[in-house]
Amino acid sequence: MITIESLTRTYGDFTAVDDVSFTAEAGRVTGFLGPNGAGKSTTMRVLVGLTPPTRGSATILGRRFAELPNPGREVGVLLDASAQHAGRTGREILTIAQRTMGLPKSAVEETLAKVSLTATEADRRVRNYSLGMRQRLGIGTALIGDPEVLILDEPANGLDPAGIRWMRDLLRGFADQGGTVLLSSHLLHEIEVIADDLVVIGQGRIVAQGSKQELLAAAGTLARADEASALHGALADKGIAATVSIDGAVRTDADPAAVGQIALAAGIALTELRPADGAGLEEMFLELTAASQREGHTDTTEGAAA
Ligand SMILES: Nc1ncnc2c1ncn2[C@@H]1O[C@H](COP(=O)(O)OP(=O)(O)OP(=O)(O)O)[C@@H](O)[C@H]1O
Ligand SMILES: [Mg+2]
Repeated sequence: MITIESLTRTYGDFTAVDDVSFTAEAGRVTGFLGPNGAGKSTTMRVLVGLTPPTRGSATILGRRFAELPNPGREVGVLLDASAQHAGRTGREILTIAQRTMGLPKSAVEETLAKVSLTATEADRRVRNYSLGMRQRLGIGTALIGDPEVLILDEPANGLDPAGIRWMRDLLRGFADQGGTVLLSSHLLHEIEVIADDLVVIGQGRIVAQGSKQELLAAAGTLARADEASALHGALADKGIAATVSIDGAVRTDADPAAVGQIALAAGIALTELRPADGAGLEEMFLELTAASQREGHTDTTEGAAA
């Protein structure tokens, strides 16, 4: 189990992590979701003792990382898959971890098999690895000590759809055996398929948390019409409050049948009408992302995308 309590981390007068509290439970995969610059990596860096908290605490299995007797055996960490020594082979990197943790030699081969790196790939230097291979190797390094807790920062970065499915199955198996998994992502859909619980962070603050089911099962209806404002007006005439999002989706707490009746009576052709599953979360996340982009935290990402 991971416990974060009232954690704040400031850099000068900038608050990167602002009074954050959440737990990641054993037997569950907890997704830590937030747009670029939200404070995910900072939280994780505090958690594994790479940077001290300004206020509050972060513990793993009830202890601060520095107090864990043999950290690699208790917690597997992947913070930056490209931080691996480029001149070493994958096998060498795993062998160093195996010796440091005092594990049997067989742990290296077992780990390579677990993360699906072939013998040829294992003997290649990391500089020649694809991003996906680096992620697999990084996950292998996190898993080799057979830890109880996994802390993975953007582990799905660079994985193709088959790789994401592979990771989902691996983390599912790990959690089903009682392990605790905390993984971060800036992509809602990526984390949606993997996580049991979600913690959503924006600009250093927690904006939502709960089980994936709770968060995705936001009640209400999503409807679209050629003229969103006409539909909005027709609903308002019947005393039903609705919102129109930037992409023209009309959302309301009324059920789909009521919305359909009102649209029919008003002569409005609907192009979409359905329960708003997850739309609330998606919209909140889009707003968060838009807000952080307005503040210019994602300059490099925008540059790269352009
Ligand atoms: N050492 C530091 N000095 C100053 N500011 C920092 C430092 N480390 C992080 N920050 C700032 O803290 C904020 C949160 O950064 P962090 O890396 O935690 O975000 P993130 O959620 O991991 O984002 P991403 O999805 O881009 O990885 C950013 O605005 C970042 O610039
Ligand atoms: Mg990060």
